[in-house]
Amino acid sequence: MSKRERVVVPDQAEMRQQVYMTHIRDCQEAHRQQTGFARRYAIETYGCQLNENDSEYLAGLLDEMGFIPAPSVREADFIILNTCSIRQNADDRLFGNLGHIKRLRQDRPDLVIAVCGCMMKQSEHVDKIDKSFSFVDLIFGPQDIYRLPEFLYSRLIESRRVYAVSDEDVIIEGLPIHRARRFRALVSIMYGCNNFCTYCVVPYTRGRERSREPQDILKEIRGLSADGYQEVMLLGQNVNSYGHDLPDTAAGPRDFTSLLEAVARIGTFSRIRFMTSHPKDISDALLDVMSRYTCIERHLHLPLQSGSDRILEKMNRRYSQAHYLDIARKAREKIPGITLSTDLIVGFPGETEADFLETLNVMQQVQFDAAFTFQFSPRSNTPAAEMDDQISAEIVRDRFQRMIDLQNRHSLASNEQLVGKTMEILIEGSSSSDDQVLSGRTSCNRLINVTIPDTHLLPREAVDEKGRVIGQALEGKLAQVKITKAKTFSMLGEMETINT
Ligand code: SAH
Ligand code: SF4
Ligand code: F3S
Repeated sequence: MSKRERVVVPDQAEMRQQVYMTHIRDCQEAHRQQTGFARRYAIETYGCQLNENDSEYLAGLLDEMGFIPAPSVREADFIILNTCSIRQNADDRLFGNLGHIKRLRQDRPDLVIAVCGCMMKQSEHVDKIDKSFSFVDLIFGPQDIYRLPEFLYSRLIESRRVYAVSDEDVIIEGLPIHRARRFRALVSIMYGCNNFCTYCVVPYTRGRERSREPQDILKEIRGLSADGYQEVMLLGQNVNSYGHDLPDTAAGPRDFTSLLEAVARIGTFSRIRFMTSHPKDISDALLDVMSRYTCIERHLHLPLQSGSDRILEKMNRRYSQAHYLDIARKAREKIPGITLSTDLIVGFPGETEADFLETLNVMQQVQFDAAFTFQFSPRSNTPAAEMDDQISAEIVRDRFQRMIDLQNRHSLASNEQLVGKTMEILIEGSSSSDDQVLSGRTSCNRLINVTIPDTHLLPREAVDEKGRVIGQALEGKLAQVKITKAKTFSMLGEMETINT
């Protein structure tokens, strides 16, 4: 096999994919006739929901080409690792798993292995793969997903390896999709990020911000409604800047608030979620729309990162503590019962004890219902990695623990307020620890594990002949649940009724 080579994107590449697809389908059919089996694929996704959505498109393309999903990575003929580079531990995960896959490949030389996603946009990772994991057959970036048929053609038919990481800021519509969940459909409404927060790799891995046309998004979402989805999640790195790159029409600007309202007006969804909001771009109009439509989640994920104005400026976040507190106050005023969650970073370069105390101060004032807390992780080629006042690991650990302790108290107190209430949940399936307990989320995004006092409450198809609950059969259904106990990260409840 030749050395991995750079593939130049030809004009009209997306249309040419159809041709490659036909060839692969034929090749798959021949393989099936020879061996009696269809080739099987497994995709491992390490990143955010945008990455998960990308994996759903990869799976859709593979289904279309005659592959079938493998029950596990071990049983796959084609393995794709869709990587994330947001923090060091994400990078480490890839290399750990490539070590395992190396052994699989030694036993099965015909196993095809692809690595894609955000890490592939950074040359040091590609160099490391070339050096230590040279058995990887296909390397491509987040902007190259639609070219999977072409890459497979190179590998399966021409026995070539592929390196194809492009910087083209494309939007491709109409790709086939294999959705991973039955209860929630992910819909990327925009790609890339223009914000260049000084700690973050995303603008480098995902390119410049670009929005899909509203009519394309709405067409996809109407299709989801027709397919019976109850919950849709609109995705972008900063959904509040959706449409800034689209020209206005006679009907007015095409922005996130109008899009969200248009989705709400379809009228068939019980839950419309969205991620992520940037505090600098949140408008009063958005909060008003959220307060008007009960189908829009009672939840706002609004990353604060730091409570110190000095650090926010060094992070290039472009809002102040006062602005953030103002939005949080308005959100709680306009949308009763709203859950506010956030992302926080400790140990950003130059963070003093006083800066850190400002973060704790904002946490005290807002009383976040949930938070994702991160230790600053220097990312190569980002400005923050080069800043000279890096914080020692010991101080970071100490601040991190104090932050978690405070947040855990707030999360528990927030959940405790709901004990005794009856809330509606959308069921996501069986709980991970007990298949006879269901788990689901409220509109305000709280996770509830639910016991079923009497299986007669359930529709027939959700109970097997031994009287055991089949959690999968209840995915996407709405149930009324009485909250019986609060924990830090979830609550317990008992089912009262279910919509069948
Ligand atoms: N686009 C979203 C967040 C995307 S990344 C936003 O702007 O809010 C998710 C979270 O990872 C970020 O909110 C941030 O808290 C964290 N993060 C990103 N880069 C990081 C880094 N270098 N070190 C530690 N945490 C980081
Ligand atoms: Fe990263 Fe900032 Fe963009 Fe979020 S807004 S993806 S943190 S650069
Ligand atoms: Fe990770 Fe890329 Fe998402 S770096 S967080 S997978 S955009």
